[in-house]
Amino acid sequence: MKSVQKHAIWRRKGTFILAATGSAVGLGNIWKFPYIAGENGGGAFVLMYLLCICLIGLPVMVAEVLLGRRGRANPIMAVQAVTRESGSSRGWNVIGLFGVLAGFLILSYYSVIAGWTLEYVTTAARGGFVGLDGESAKRAFEALNANKSALVQWQTAFLCMTVLVIVFGVTRGLETAVRVLMPLLFVLLVVLMVYAAYVGDFAAGASFLFSFKFSELSLKGLSLALGHAFFTLSLGMGAIMTYGSYMPSHHSIVKTVLIVGILDTVVALMAGLAIFPIVFATQGVSPGDGSGLMFISLPIVFGAMPFGTIFGTLFFLLVTLAAWSSAISLLEPAVAYLIQRFRFHRLSANLLIASLAWLLGLGTVMSFNDWSDSTYFLGMNFFNFIDFITASVLLPLGGVLMAIYVGWFMQRRSLRSELRQESRKTFTRWFTIVRYVSPALVLLVFLIGLYGKFAG
Ligand code: PHE
Repeated sequence: MKSVQKHAIWRRKGTFILAATGSAVGLGNIWKFPYIAGENGGGAFVLMYLLCICLIGLPVMVAEVLLGRRGRANPIMAVQAVTRESGSSRGWNVIGLFGVLAGFLILSYYSVIAGWTLEYVTTAARGGFVGLDGESAKRAFEALNANKSALVQWQTAFLCMTVLVIVFGVTRGLETAVRVLMPLLFVLLVVLMVYAAYVGDFAAGASFLFSFKFSELSLKGLSLALGHAFFTLSLGMGAIMTYGSYMPSHHSIVKTVLIVGILDTVVALMAGLAIFPIVFATQGVSPGDGSGLMFISLPIVFGAMPFGTIFGTLFFLLVTLAAWSSAISLLEPAVAYLIQRFRFHRLSANLLIASLAWLLGLGTVMSFNDWSDSTYFLGMNFFNFIDFITASVLLPLGGVLMAIYVGWFMQRRSLRSELRQESRKTFTRWFTIVRYVSPALVLLVFLIGLYGKFAG
């Protein structure tokens, strides 16, 4: 393929793992997972989510990395290169376009939520968590959301941070950040978990997350679990494909994907184990409290803990960083596309996409105050709608198209060559899953989800 010589390849072993983990571990794990698990029956949701990760997420992730590495370009052009090589229809190029769109839409609301974490860094540092109880923590969160100019200010700050990294080149700064700070986030989550177990109701929290009640299974929960599997692994939109395109060809894709998948899942479960014991031990806070769950429960822990001001500041700072390394991967595919396809300058491509994401993000800002009760968009407010369209529609759709493409249309020879490090048995297993199981499951859940949505 022509683009091979032109495209940079990461030299250091482990850079893919770092970058992919940086992309995967983010607000999805620490903010989103606990609150959607809380709203959808705890254990039943967690079980469905874990099944979706194993049967769909990981196999599709292998497919996505493989496409990127084979195509060696941004998502749209990588897919084009691979379809050219396999002589398949150009219609497949929609995969890349969907991805660029999904990344952009997610970035628009992601930056508003990351804005909350920035605000909480400053609140923690000012000692604002000291002595918080359920009621006052809730009031503080509501007060932030009523303050539109603060929300916009933090959203803007976060987008500027993201643009800055992409303009000055992704790998070096990010690599160091991820290498040092991700392990620190991990350690801090352990500390939080232990402390939450000590002051909170650990038994209730753990049983909520891990005891499975059949009656709690719901169609809505299933479709959310599937969507979240894609969201949390950054799948189906080209982020992982972009990173795959930089991966040296002698590394094992399956092994790397397993490491990233395990790390990502562990972080989500740890966040859940830090948050729910507090939720169950605090008056006025309940698992179904929605998108503010982390911002209401964790400040209570920090407020009660020795050195809570320092730990709290550090924690929200690290969450912001995790969000930052995810946001970069949301923005990069679109930017790379404008550069490679339309010869945009890197800076102008960045500024264009980030400004549009900022503008669209104002809709999310309004969804937490003036428009919170609006049902204008398929019965949802703007933020819930964008979240639905991306996590429940675009990402699974992009992912399933990748699986179908790789399973049915790509030359077997190219697949075998990209996965030559794997044993024949592993290859066959993966191939069967990607060819039959994942697409069938995604389509099923997808139809069920749409049915549930529109049938009430
Ligand atoms: N995986 C990220 C998270 O969990 C979000 C994300 C989705 C990033 C899609 C890139 C692409 O927060």
